[in-house]
Order: sequence, then C-alpha cells, then structure tokens
Amino acid sequence: MGITELTPDYRGLIGLEGKHVLVLGGGLGIGRQTCLAAASVGAKVSVVDMDQDRAKAVAEEVDGLALTGDATDRAAVERFVGEAVRHFGPIHGLADIIGMSDNGPLSEVTDELWYRGLDLNLRHAFLALQIGAKAMTEGGSMVFVGSISGLRSAPGHAVYGAAKAGLANLVSTASLELGPGIRVNVVAPGQTATPRVAERHPEPDYYDKAAAQVPLGRVGRTSDIASAVLFFLTDLSAWITGQTLVVDGGAGRRFAYTKL
Ligand SMILES: NC(=O)c1ccc[n+]([C@@H]2O[C@H](COP(=O)([O-])OP(=O)(O)OC[C@H]3O[C@@H](n4cnc5c(N)ncnc54)[C@H](O)[C@@H]3O)[C@@H](O)[C@H]2O)c1
Repeated sequence: MGITELTPDYRGLIGLEGKHVLVLGGGLGIGRQTCLAAASVGAKVSVVDMDQDRAKAVAEEVDGLALTGDATDRAAVERFVGEAVRHFGPIHGLADIIGMSDNGPLSEVTDELWYRGLDLNLRHAFLALQIGAKAMTEGGSMVFVGSISGLRSAPGHAVYGAAKAGLANLVSTASLELGPGIRVNVVAPGQTATPRVAERHPEPDYYDKAAAQVPLGRVGRTSDIASAVLFFLTDLSAWITGQTLVVDGGAGRRFAYTKL
C-alpha cells in the first residue's frame, strides 16, 4: 500500500497572516509541504533550496520568493537571508527542514562522512540560529526538523543520530538565549514517506512493513510533519520554546518486551 499525500485545510489558523516565513530546504518533501502550509494561512514564503529548479517550482506554487544556496555555507546564508528581508521584510517564522541520514555501521564511518553528517544535520541550524535570529527584528518562531533517531538508537544511524541529538540540545540552548522575542523548537519525525525515502526504498511493500511497527498503522505523510511545524510557527504554541515534539504515529513508544 502506498502513502497518499494530503494537503490539510488550515484556513482559520491564527498568527501567520501577512507574516514572512523562510523555509530552508523548502524545495521537496517535508520542506515543500511546510511552504504550502504556511502559504495556505496567508504567510509570505521565502523558499530556500540548493536545487534552483526545486526552489523555483515551490516558490511558484506559493507565490513566494525562490532563493538558491547551500545552507551549510555562512556566506550563502547571509546572502539569502539578506535577499529575503529586502524582498518581504523582517522574518517572523523560520523553518529549517534540512537533514541527511547516513546508513552504515560505525566501523565504516569515514572522517569525510562524519563531517558531512554534522554539516548537513547541525551546521545549517547553527547558521540559521545566528544569522536568522538577527533578521527576526520583530520576534517570531524558529522550527528545526530533527528525527526520532536523535532520541532513540538504530544501527547505521551513528552520525545522523548524534547530530540530531545535538540539534535538540542546540535548540534548547538557543531558546534560553533568544527568548523572550524568539521561540525555538524541534519537530522530530518518525518514518515519513518523502521522495528521498521512496528513492532509497523502491520495494512495493516497504511502507507496509514499516507501518507494522507504528501504533497508528501507517508511516508519516509529509503533511503530518508540516502540520507540527506549522503549529510551532503559529501563536498556537505561543508559550512553548526549547522543546522537541516527536511526530511518529506512536512508533517510539514501543520497547522490547518479552512476556515471562
Ligand atoms: N523521511 C523520513 O523518514 C524522516 C524521518 C525523520 C527525520 N527526517 C528529517 O526530515 C527532514 C526532511 O527530510 P526530506 O526527506 O523531506 O528532505 P530531503 O532530504 O528530500 O531534502 C529537502 C530539500 O533540502 C534541500 N537541501 C539539502 N541540503 C541542502 C543544503 N545544504 N542547503 C540548501 N538546501 C538543501 C534538498 O535539495 C531538498 O530539496 C530532514 O531533516 C530529515 O532528516 C526525515
């Protein structure tokens, strides 16, 4: 059974009408859904992706601004944050969706993969927190996409898990330094049907097998994750900061239990 994409109706949700939301990694999957969700409640959306065609395609869908650049590069982040502010004014919401999972045993992790994993899961968050916060002169909310892998362990997820665990603590620390004006939170998805996962796992029964581990009976849709990101971007979460919200259909609740 495949997973059908869904675009929930968020109309009437308060807090983002006319506000400027910048989405890092907005060109595909969870990032694209976040752009659609923010635009559907009236936000002006800046779509950042290192893939120019993807950024342009999503910006067209949301009548937003397409920006291209590598979010792990300080000069690029300064450039596209500056361009976004010149175009739409101060940033009120920043969603950073970027991440990359390595899959290989610890014994095979090269130095290159280690640094790449840290860059693609942590460095952009550090830059977004530093540079993005300065562009949020009217206050606002930042949301980072972590992973259940940062809270639980799985073989082959050493670098990814360590970096996503680091992300949760980075954000927790940032919440102390950026409050009261700026809130900062993490959404930690469980297994979610994104184009990247579909590319890596073309087996037709892949999602059925994964769903068997999930109390809510299916893997995540990109909209499940985008809805949680949207919650943190809006005033619905006005008194929440420094938190990690797990969105995994309940999968992480299970532990290995043998009836005696
Ligand atoms: N899919 C899952 O099962 C799952 C589970 C847990 C967590 N996550 C997390 O969700 C997030 C999104 O996953 P996805 O599969 O939707 O995203 P993805 O890997 O498909 O990437 C989204 C977009 O980010 C862009 N991007 C990547 N690196 C970039 C960079 N350095 N600068 C600018 N743009 C860059 C890509 O071009 C792509 O368009 C990631 O942080 C991932 O770790 C996913």
